[in-house]
Amino acid sequence: MPSSSLLLLLSLAMAATDLVNTRWVLAQRPGQRAFDADQDCEKETAPVPALAPDEVCVKVELLSVDAFIRTMLDAEAYHGAIQLGDPLPALGYGTVVAAGDDAKKHVGKRVMGMCKAQTHAVGTMGMEGFMPCMGFPGVPETASLGLLSVATGVASYVGCFKVLAPPRGGETALVSAAGGAVGSIAVQLLKTTGARVVGVAGGPKKCAFVTERLGADAAVDYKSPTFADDLDAACPDGIDFFLDNAGGDTLRVALDRINMRSRVVVCGAASQYSGNLNTGRDDKGQGGAVVGPSSYLKLSEKSSTMAGFNVMHYFSSIPLALFNLCWYHWRGKVVVHEQIEEGLDAFPGALVRLFSGGHCGKLLVRVAPPA
Ligand SMILES: NC(=O)c1ccc[n+]([C@@H]2O[C@H](COP(=O)([O-])OP(=O)(O)OC[C@H]3O[C@@H](n4cnc5c(N)ncnc54)[C@H](OP(=O)(O)O)[C@@H]3O)[C@@H](O)[C@H]2O)c1
Repeated sequence: MPSSSLLLLLSLAMAATDLVNTRWVLAQRPGQRAFDADQDCEKETAPVPALAPDEVCVKVELLSVDAFIRTMLDAEAYHGAIQLGDPLPALGYGTVVAAGDDAKKHVGKRVMGMCKAQTHAVGTMGMEGFMPCMGFPGVPETASLGLLSVATGVASYVGCFKVLAPPRGGETALVSAAGGAVGSIAVQLLKTTGARVVGVAGGPKKCAFVTERLGADAAVDYKSPTFADDLDAACPDGIDFFLDNAGGDTLRVALDRINMRSRVVVCGAASQYSGNLNTGRDDKGQGGAVVGPSSYLKLSEKSSTMAGFNVMHYFSSIPLALFNLCWYHWRGKVVVHEQIEEGLDAFPGALVRLFSGGHCGKLLVRVAPPA
């Protein structure tokens, strides 16, 4: 009997709700390679178990595909590693469809939190579990996983304005992974400062998105053999501010072009997330799995600063960030760009596409139609 059928039979024996959950679980760790949708995860179906008195069951509607998901598939992960057999992590939202005796008042409420890649998520309400969905007038509900999400819009706002001095009018600001979720908001936010904004993205289609849809002054294709020369042409006065989402070679080439007293904000390093990021060691325990910038001495030559940040350490900035993100959105300064893939089956492929660059703006997966 296939293991999934056995699992279904076993859990039917323990089941106490009539809800059935379908989920993608981690089958093996991708280690030093990119996530493989065919090998690294498998689909399981099982009844939702009996709910504890304080637990709710959320019918998941929309899932967010974020870069941090890949880092959590490693054995040691600073965001927290998931175990083999655990559902793939993913922020999301949906509606409470069942609850334990003490949580009945939440049935019918729209909530958001770590729903994971599944149709039904079980957890408690509160800071450690699900929170009521945020609703802001004039902002689409889907934006609670993008523009207004801590992992996307708020991270972008903090990276642009709170970590180091933001760019001023007349300066040049560079954003890498500029066509992605965090980057697409950063390009638009940095345009409000009056700086010349240049985006780095992979391929002509993504570069066209960065200039034509996001309004960057120029975009440079890091996959082109002439990347370094193209960056020189796009930043004729050098780089004063850099929000880096890519790391690796992009960071090295950018550091070589920084001006005096420039600011480099390390938001992330998407190019390095298939290299045992959390230990910096390869599968044999040797060093060198994560590539750092060989040009870092430019920082001292140019009296410049490079600083990293974790948005969760900027909790007090969240209210102002949310207000300003809405304000810019209402004034048309920050437009929401989303790519929504249909069905839970699309989730593993979407996680592959997040890193191969097959999306523009925020990547989301619709699990069930809007309630
Ligand atoms: N510091 C924080 O607290 C915080 C919070 C949230 C997110 N982040 C970081 O923000 C970054 C963006 O995350 P996201 O969820 O918005 O993902 P995303 O930007 O929508 O998708 C990841 C992007 O990485 C780019 N990329 C992949 N491999 C690359 C390479 N070798 N060189 C250059 N670019 C490459 C791809 O862009 P192309 O299509 O252009 O290749 C892809 O679109 C990540 O580094 C993430 O860790 C940080």
